[in-house]
Amino acid sequence: MDVSARFLQTALDGIDDCINIVDKKFQIIFINEAASKRVGKNWRTMLGNKCYAQLWGKSAPCENCVTGKAFETGKTQQTIKWEIGPDGKKHFMEHFAFPITDKEGNVEYTVEIFRDITERKLLEEEREQQRLELGKRVRELRHAYEELKSLQNQLLQAEKMASIGLLASSLAHELDTPLATISGYCELLAEDIQDKNFLGRVKTISEQVIKCQKTIRNLLDFSRKSNYERKLCNIHQLINSILSLVEHRLIIHKIRLHKTFDDQIPPLLVDGNQIQQVILNLVNNAVDALPQGGDVFIETRVNREAKSFEIIFEDNGIGISDEHRKYIFSPFFTTKEPGKGTGLGLLICKNIILAHNGKITLESRVGNGTKFVILLPL
Ligand SMILES: Nc1ncnc2c1ncn2[C@@H]1O[C@H](COP(=O)(O)OP(=O)(O)OP(=O)(O)O)[C@@H](O)[C@H]1O
Ligand SMILES: [Mg+2]
Repeated sequence: MDVSARFLQTALDGIDDCINIVDKKFQIIFINEAASKRVGKNWRTMLGNKCYAQLWGKSAPCENCVTGKAFETGKTQQTIKWEIGPDGKKHFMEHFAFPITDKEGNVEYTVEIFRDITERKLLEEEREQQRLELGKRVRELRHAYEELKSLQNQLLQAEKMASIGLLASSLAHELDTPLATISGYCELLAEDIQDKNFLGRVKTISEQVIKCQKTIRNLLDFSRKSNYERKLCNIHQLINSILSLVEHRLIIHKIRLHKTFDDQIPPLLVDGNQIQQVILNLVNNAVDALPQGGDVFIETRVNREAKSFEIIFEDNGIGISDEHRKYIFSPFFTTKEPGKGTGLGLLICKNIILAHNGKITLESRVGNGTKFVILLPL
């Protein structure tokens, strides 16, 4: 080895990357220490032999070999490949090939440099994994935030309902006494009146006042604060008393109410106030779905086999489109004009029914009305 060759060998032996130079026949004419050490061979025995055999244990040039491509194209090549290393593990290798040309521009030799970048790759993969994990966390956080926001809004709505309830109950209290007085005086008047015509009129006043009192008592019952107390209740009484509060609304909207109650229903352990809230929400939705009037059907039935009790609530209104079906129990989903619906009614219904270990499901087709089935355990 002459002085310049020895100088080159010493210089390139000091580099950690594997370096070799091959001729057109893929014969190694130079190899540094890192490359020969990697395959555990003496560099002297490798000179003059095929690179694919000495370095990669192959009997023919490697597939997609950068050296072969550098010879073909006369251009620098780069690639990343993986292979099973001498330790039996998967290694990522980065390969470069630089062509050396003669005066005419023909590629005479190629310098190949390759290095193991497994550690860098693993680090990159780890970083990618961390990035994905972080993205997931951010999404979870965003979801939790949305949920919190929706709960806050529900709370606001509930507070609003509570203050309306308070207002209604104080109003009912205020009206109760004068109505009782009117009713008492009507009775006194009736005792003194002989004329049948007059008597009839006073009796009509008395009847109407009693009706007002009944409505007000129902309103008071409904607005009375409930601490989510469950008591054995007669479900039909609950339904009837809340319906009596909205009866006049149904009449105004030309809606006929059809009740079919199953008398076999035993008393149920429920929070009466909440069940009434469910019925009220469903009635309000039905009224909105029947702008030209129509029919509302409420049916109750016991399913002894399923040990459950069903309330079937049906209207023949505008119905719910397939597109909207999946959203109707979601918070703030409403198809009503601004100021008319908050999109919380059905969500509240669902939460109440779930709290009673029950289920509320929808059956609806556009133009064919809407049917809700509430299932409560017996
Ligand atoms: N009986 C029904 N017929 C047709 N559509 C209905 C019926 N009940 C509910 N919907 C649809 O489901 C949506 C959600 O109902 P939900 O009761 O939750 O909210 P809302 O009635 O819009 O507002 P609010 O909070 O005042 O009740 C309604 O906007 C409506 O599109
Ligand atoms: Mg509603």
